Amino acid sequence: MMLRIVVLVLIIVCADLAKGESKVPCYFIFGDSLSDVGNNNDLRTLAKTNYPPYGVDFPGGIATGRFSNNRTIEDFITTFLGFNKSIAPYSAQINEDILRGVNFASGAAGILSNSGSQLGDRVWMDKQIRNYLITTSKLVLKVRGHVSDYLNKCLYTVNIGSNDYINNYFMPENYPSKRLYTPEQFANLLIVRFRSQLQALYNTGARKVAVFGLGLIGCTPAQIAMRNATQCIDEINQAANLFNEKLPSLIDDFNRLPMAKFTLISLTAMQALNPLPPGIITTSTCCQLRSDFQCEPFTPPCANRNIYAFFDGYHPTDVVNGGVAESAYNTPNRMIANPMNINELSSS
Ligand SMILES: *[C@@H]1O[C@H](CO)[C@@H](O)[C@H](O)[C@H]1NC(C)=O
Ligand SMILES: *[C@@H]1O[C@H](CO)[C@@H](O)[C@H](O)[C@H]1NC(C)=O
Ligand SMILES: *[C@@H]1O[C@H](CO)[C@@H](O)[C@H](O)[C@H]1NC(C)=O
Repeated sequence: MMLRIVVLVLIIVCADLAKGESKVPCYFIFGDSLSDVGNNNDLRTLAKTNYPPYGVDFPGGIATGRFSNNRTIEDFITTFLGFNKSIAPYSAQINEDILRGVNFASGAAGILSNSGSQLGDRVWMDKQIRNYLITTSKLVLKVRGHVSDYLNKCLYTVNIGSNDYINNYFMPENYPSKRLYTPEQFANLLIVRFRSQLQALYNTGARKVAVFGLGLIGCTPAQIAMRNATQCIDEINQAANLFNEKLPSLIDDFNRLPMAKFTLISLTAMQALNPLPPGIITTSTCCQLRSDFQCEPFTPPCANRNIYAFFDGYHPTDVVNGGVAESAYNTPNRMIANPMNINELSSS
């Protein structure tokens, strides 16, 4: 019986996808460098990657501004949803395509407006929301009926907060946060801001929202090297974990609102429950590093990108992003995706 339902569902899904239709009509993406697909290219900032060896595996070898050798997590999710091309960056000023969604993510961006500012300009979360509101106002002329009724059907993913730690709290020479706040107070401050940012999305009609928690940012090669350490920096992981621990009740609060379907994707649970296969290198990076732990421009990357977890000092390779996306989309494990995975969220 169960099997028959599964088969039936698969047939329906495949029939939909075969018609060239995606599971949701539109997908809006918010976040930082993990999700950026070129929004920083024309900004004055070090946090941009529109140069080789970034994009070495991207069709045509183009360095689009993705912080990887090929696809982001959201690129994979876009494909799983049945879209036939990736969601364009806001900076591309796409016109008709805004109906299928826009990517607002920006490298070095944080929940707080000043996080990442030592690297230069960036589109912080409040500004991403401003750009989103500009986009939704343009939709008035493009959709039949209320824009909010259209937005109700769209998928939203939000993956932000790492820079509030890496490029703010744990950079006391550039930012006062660590002197002003305990890790607990800082996590509370981020949650207060994050709540109002997610509320702003809800207020426009966003109902299907997947929020990513922070990964083990103390385990990135950059953070380990900056501390001259040989293993993960527990102080950073523990501070980020205080933020992560507050996300479930934030998501629960949103799910009490009418029609809201918010879900939490826990990257730390994913990392603990689906460890990388043995043989994947995590202690060094695929590309040769600049002093800021991005790739040194125009240097050759490693030959076998599939055996490295990190492309540069902070950012995963395509193969890792694919694994994360697959898990976020399909996992039945409620430790990883709660109360549902992105496939269930999209179908709901
Ligand atoms: C890179 O991504 C494209 C989709 O944009 C995919 O078709 C291709 O197989 C990927 N290449 C590698 C080497 O991962
Ligand atoms: C993607 O699909 C849409 C219709 O759903 C079609 O108009 C468009 O030409 C397709 N694009 C590509 C690159 O195949
Ligand atoms: C790491 O080592 C370098 C070179 O030995 C030194 O200049 C730097 O101060 C050290 N940093 C820390 C955080 O210990």
